Amino acid sequence: ESAMRKRGSMPMLSPTSRGPLSQAVLDALRSGETSRLVDAPDPDNTEDAQLALWTMYEQHHGGFDDISDDLEWDPHVLGVRRRLEQDFEQTLRQRAPQAPEPGDFAETFFDFVAGHEGPSLSSHMHRSATEAQVREFLRHKSIYHLKESDHTTWVVPRLSGPVKAAVMELQYDEYGAGNPNRLHATMFADGLHASDLESAYGAYINEAPVEILEQNNVMSMFGLNRRLRAASLGFLAAFETTSSVPSRRIAQGLDRLGFPPEMIEYYTEHVEADAVHEQLAVRTICGVLIEEEPALYDDVYFGAWTSMDLEDRYAHRMLEEWAA
Ligand SMILES: [Fe+2]
Ligand SMILES: [Fe+2]
Repeated sequence: ESAMRKRGSMPMLSPTSRGPLSQAVLDALRSGETSRLVDAPDPDNTEDAQLALWTMYEQHHGGFDDISDDLEWDPHVLGVRRRLEQDFEQTLRQRAPQAPEPGDFAETFFDFVAGHEGPSLSSHMHRSATEAQVREFLRHKSIYHLKESDHTTWVVPRLSGPVKAAVMELQYDEYGAGNPNRLHATMFADGLHASDLESAYGAYINEAPVEILEQNNVMSMFGLNRRLRAASLGFLAAFETTSSVPSRRIAQGLDRLGFPPEMIEYYTEHVEADAVHEQLAVRTICGVLIEEEPALYDDVYFGAWTSMDLEDRYAHRMLEEWAA
């Protein structure tokens, strides 16, 4: 049974609004009357803004069955998106610390990541999470894993030959190395399906907390804006560097709780794969990018830090909720 057929089983509908701005954006997109967005209301809160942004970015991914594809480049929609992106980028830059002093690139980068301290969701998964908690985690993570790596593909045309070749080597793996059953997104869908969870893309968007929306939106924002290409690749490098060990812990946690082999397989695949990807992403992708364009150094670290910080924020929230 192919993932495409499974995904075809459920239409991809636009999400439920979370405030006046996301309501206005959804109304405009569903009706096609986008000129109303000229005086769109301000967002009520971060969640409202992030959901509106997520909806607009999804037009560039799989789209929605209840929104016309003609609106992907609608100038009124892009006007709202641009405003939200500017606010979001400013917030993220304010959160990020200064980049470390330049030295040997790979050594400095690996030290930067290793020195980062944050709450560990994977340790909780490994040892003490309940089945209900893990199922909630999988539903949240499905928003990204079902379109895994697509945001990095957007960066490819903006890179020089050597960096492009290295990104494609990594992406070839993420996309199954020629085998449609081995696409990481498909493996995750198979894992959800085997776990009696909905594997249709976006099925759980209405329960995604704001931290998950921010995580997904930052990947789209970095991928879709050429000037943020270094942040996108820095994000990738930190993401890959912090994936192998947690993936092993999560696989062991899933095994402890008796999850089906398809779900475990997704994580065990990442233990090996991401140990290779981190070397590629740090040395051959970011390292070479910085040699070619030293001015992008700070943005590589901005992206890397953002990757770790957004995962920390999600971990924080879930550990707090689960402890209550
Ligand atoms: Fe992957
Ligand atoms: Fe990877």
